[in-house]
Amino acid sequence: MIRKLFVTTALPYANGNFHIGHIMEYIQADIWVRFQRMQGHQVHFVGADDAHGAPIMIAAEKAGKSPQAFVADIAAGRRQYLDGFHISFDHWHSTDSPENTELAQGIYRALRKNGLIASRSIEQFFDPVKQMFLPDRYIKGECPKCSAKDQYGDSCEVCGAVYAPTELKNPYSTLTGATPVMKSSEHYFFQLSSSRCIDYLQGWTQDGKLQPEVANKIKEWFTTDENGHGGLSDWDISRDAPYFGIEIPDAPGKYFYVWLDAPVGYLASLKSYFDQGGPKAKYGETRSFDEFIAAPDIEQYHFIGKDITYFHTLFWPAMLHFSGRKVPDNVFVHGFITVSGEKMSKSRGTGIDPLKYLSLGMNAEWLRYYIAAKLSAKVEDVDFNPEDFVARVNSDLVGKYINIASRAAGFISKRFAGKLGPTPSADGEQLLATLRGAAAEVQRLYEEREFGKALREIMLLADRVNEYVDQNKPWELAKQTGAEPRLQEVCTICIESFRLLTIYLKPVLPALAAKVEAFLDIAPLTFADAARGLGEHQIGSYQHLMQRVDPQQLDALFEPPAVEAPKPGGEDIAPVIGIDDFAKLDLRIAKIVECSHVEGSDKLLRLSLDVGEGRLRNVFSGIKSAYQPDELVGKLTVMVANLAPRKMKFGVSEGMVLAASHADDKVDAGIYVLEPWPGAQPGMRVR
Ligand code: 2FM
Ligand code: ZN
Repeated sequence: MIRKLFVTTALPYANGNFHIGHIMEYIQADIWVRFQRMQGHQVHFVGADDAHGAPIMIAAEKAGKSPQAFVADIAAGRRQYLDGFHISFDHWHSTDSPENTELAQGIYRALRKNGLIASRSIEQFFDPVKQMFLPDRYIKGECPKCSAKDQYGDSCEVCGAVYAPTELKNPYSTLTGATPVMKSSEHYFFQLSSSRCIDYLQGWTQDGKLQPEVANKIKEWFTTDENGHGGLSDWDISRDAPYFGIEIPDAPGKYFYVWLDAPVGYLASLKSYFDQGGPKAKYGETRSFDEFIAAPDIEQYHFIGKDITYFHTLFWPAMLHFSGRKVPDNVFVHGFITVSGEKMSKSRGTGIDPLKYLSLGMNAEWLRYYIAAKLSAKVEDVDFNPEDFVARVNSDLVGKYINIASRAAGFISKRFAGKLGPTPSADGEQLLATLRGAAAEVQRLYEEREFGKALREIMLLADRVNEYVDQNKPWELAKQTGAEPRLQEVCTICIESFRLLTIYLKPVLPALAAKVEAFLDIAPLTFADAARGLGEHQIGSYQHLMQRVDPQQLDALFEPPAVEAPKPGGEDIAPVIGIDDFAKLDLRIAKIVECSHVEGSDKLLRLSLDVGEGRLRNVFSGIKSAYQPDELVGKLTVMVANLAPRKMKFGVSEGMVLAASHADDKVDAGIYVLEPWPGAQPGMRVR
């Protein structure tokens, strides 16, 4: 029976390039997808950028771009990674798309109709300067337990305490430095804690389809303690403007929280693929997207990392089921990738930059092979170890597998004009029977995502072939007179064995398999070809198939990037602005009328500034390390006069004094307040 599969990988946030963790997931899913295609099944393998949310909105603003332009730039960079590592998505889309808006709003409306959406007012930190509610990650302050400064709103990096952002002492917004205020606003909730949802999800998660460790973890999430704590709670699915996201129907100024519309992006990408006619062209699929996605013969699978299990095994099936849609058949969870046992760090990177890997001329299929060799169906972390990488690629992949072809192909082409011969002897036929007999097991292992086991099995088969070569010594047969038929037979057995091994390795090594198909002059290999032999076929000319890894390439891969060329003042020049942008800044000559220390602050001075308004402005300036108050009194300087007033710990600051400094405060280059040439008067505009 031909299966029809809809397969996805997690949608990457569109605020950064792919890292090795993404590539690992794509390789895992791609191997499985290619295996299914080789079984003759119909696969629709789609991805998309996860474009919405506050971090992307803020990153775009920092880069001086609209969020749409920002995510488009990231999207434009995807291809080189996907092509480079032979990831065979049928389609790539974005959650910031009309398809996703329509689908997400439709699902929401259906959930509301089904009585599973509630709304209530909640209080949250609000940045009065930026005029926006602050996600927890943008709030810092002093730890309520140990008073360590600059701790995030959820936990203290110094003493390890865990708390709510509202418990922080002297909280501040990392966006503006302002003190956040509590403000209430109406939020929308998906009632995950309703008995309907809980009953349904208990069933969906515990019916045996999920990986056992995943199902067990979820069991914990359902459990409440004797005080009734824990268990599923309702899910806050709304965010207030300003937000880069999809508008909630009938709720002006409210947007879906990014995690509501992100998985809907799976459907949106498939819909866009249908709208482009992909499934019809590829498989003659005549159904519409809506018919297809609802049809019982379609299997739906999502490959994800363990950190987003909650979203995919609770929120997502519940959203789909209670909006009257079909739910996923399974969610395949994998662990993280570590490098030499170290967890990857967002800031330091992983030590493996996928593009650097490619630009060093390293073969993408070495990495595919290595990662496959380490993957299982369990939620285990995969470690990239450089020595192990070299060993596996050079000894197994090249030493055991590629070697078989290179040992036999030369004789076939030079001595037998490229023609394979008859194989009458029992030993050769027995070897081939062993290899063919392994097909079912190899297929089972691929199907179950036990790629490491599959490759071990295949390498054991390669060992058998190499033993056969060593026993029959074609290089000696080549020197003996009258041994020609035996030489041709032995080499034919080798080539046929190599072809069988290539079938088994093809999901992992698609580009290599294509080279082998060209070399053997055969149609693209599928698993069905394992049962058939090549016969006395004329093969093409042998081309070099795969290089060994040079350990120096790994040294280069892990070498820290060269120190960058010095940047003026320690930072890049900001993105270009137009004169209109500049005109928004109102810079004025200000006279420093008074200046004093600020009690409790080791950075700030308090200035009273006259900008010719008939009143004085109070401004805090971080220049204490460079000036004594006395030095400044009576001097002229330049201030930003139309900056929104900023509430700080010590009072409100009504503007900003201009001063020059190095970007890195660890570089002790000093701070220099600007002073106009003689003759300037307080209140004059600087333009
Ligand atoms: O964790 C992440 O990187 C998310 N962008 C994954 C989203 S998966 C799906 F829901 F879109
Ligand atoms: Zn602390």
